[in-house]
Amino acid sequence: MNTLIINAQIVTSSKTESAEILITGTKIARIEEHIESIEVIDETIDAKGLIVLPGGVDPHVHLHLPTPAGYSADDFRSGSEAALLGGTTTIIDFVTSHKGQSLVDALDERIDEASNTLTDFTFHISPVEWRNTTEKEIVSCIERGFTSFKVYMAYKDSVGLNDEALLRVMQVVGSAGGIVAIHCESGDDIERLRNELFRQDKVTPAFHALSRPPKTESKAVRKAIELAAKAVCPLYIVHVSTAESLQHIHRAQLNGQKVYAETCPHYLLLNDSSYQGDFEQTVPFVMSPPLRKKSDNEALWEAIHSKVVQTVGTDHCPFTMEQKAMGRYDFRKIPNGVPGIGYRLNLLYSYGVLLRNDFNINQLENVFASNPAKIFGFYPQKGAIAIGSDADLVLYNPHVSEQDVSTIVSSKFGTDIYKSMKTKGNPEMVLFQGEIVVRKGILVKQPQGKLIRRLKS
Ligand code: URP
Ligand code: ZN
Ligand code: ZN
Repeated sequence: MNTLIINAQIVTSSKTESAEILITGTKIARIEEHIESIEVIDETIDAKGLIVLPGGVDPHVHLHLPTPAGYSADDFRSGSEAALLGGTTTIIDFVTSHKGQSLVDALDERIDEASNTLTDFTFHISPVEWRNTTEKEIVSCIERGFTSFKVYMAYKDSVGLNDEALLRVMQVVGSAGGIVAIHCESGDDIERLRNELFRQDKVTPAFHALSRPPKTESKAVRKAIELAAKAVCPLYIVHVSTAESLQHIHRAQLNGQKVYAETCPHYLLLNDSSYQGDFEQTVPFVMSPPLRKKSDNEALWEAIHSKVVQTVGTDHCPFTMEQKAMGRYDFRKIPNGVPGIGYRLNLLYSYGVLLRNDFNINQLENVFASNPAKIFGFYPQKGAIAIGSDADLVLYNPHVSEQDVSTIVSSKFGTDIYKSMKTKGNPEMVLFQGEIVVRKGILVKQPQGKLIRRLKS
């Protein structure tokens, strides 16, 4: 199958240029100003007026995540459909082993669970304890092409690791050529604070945020950076939300340490005023870390501009109102997480490219597609419009008039945090594995996502 895209405004990480793209099978075969093709063209797409970007790579999603409140509300099928509708064609989810379970067995189980994923996918692997077999298990995961390991400094009663285990994981991952992704919140401090607040009968969602003040993040960020330096391990700090964390990250980067940072659309666009109101109004915004101040939003945008932050992941982890209501009388029982998998491109375009002087379409491409693919070892297969790359493309129509973002990817959760936000433009067409899968907001094909194997860093 040969598809020719004409009149394309191609956005790469450094420039935007007019060209034609020939797709043969699942790969990009040619990119030229004008393709004089002798081959048979099965389909011609006229991209006049559209912006052509690489398919998005979301480095942080939790589909079908088991929690005490039940599974997160999107499974691999429904979550990946929302991803495609929003222009994301590759996702990185998580393998979280049970205590006593081998990482390799947990990985095999998770691969089976994800078999109905419509996008391409891979996993970060989470050791939840240090055992005498952990080193061997990490090395075998890396040999199989799963090179990133996610550890938690919070959630100490379930998946969190103590400092000694963190250091060991980092030492093994670093020397085996992998990368550690880390949730930085100081678990012990938070545990103390939240129990103290609960004892004082402070039980509403607003206290979720107050039990996780900015210091609990920045302190953990500093500690994680120190441990990674000692272990000589590349570090990727997920969902950075505060200005103070950014200072530690920037300092480490200036010292030459391999430290990468991710933020999320909600930390760029929303703030802690969302915790004012009644339970129904405020509970959708319960995520960890919590929303911060407007000054933190601003610091994060600036950090993207100065390349201190490299990626914007969604941390997509939605729950229904019924699930969130499990914490009606105790904020500690509210399942943490918010939706976002389908909104990333629309939000970054509308609130970044259109509204900010310090964020252009090429920077959008960086945080949305190429940087996550580079950091996690599958560039230029993904995250690039280049000869030989996978033909995963978004044709974004910037002219579609203002609309409520939650109508783009219909929300079934009743806990949508972007409810009243308008966006401009829309993915007009999404190509995945060389074929059109989305046309004007409708999924026209049910593709079969592939598991991606990755290279060591
Ligand atoms: O609140 C969040 N972020 N839920 C998902 C799990 C995590 O910590 O990333
Ligand atoms: Zn997290
Ligand atoms: Zn997460």
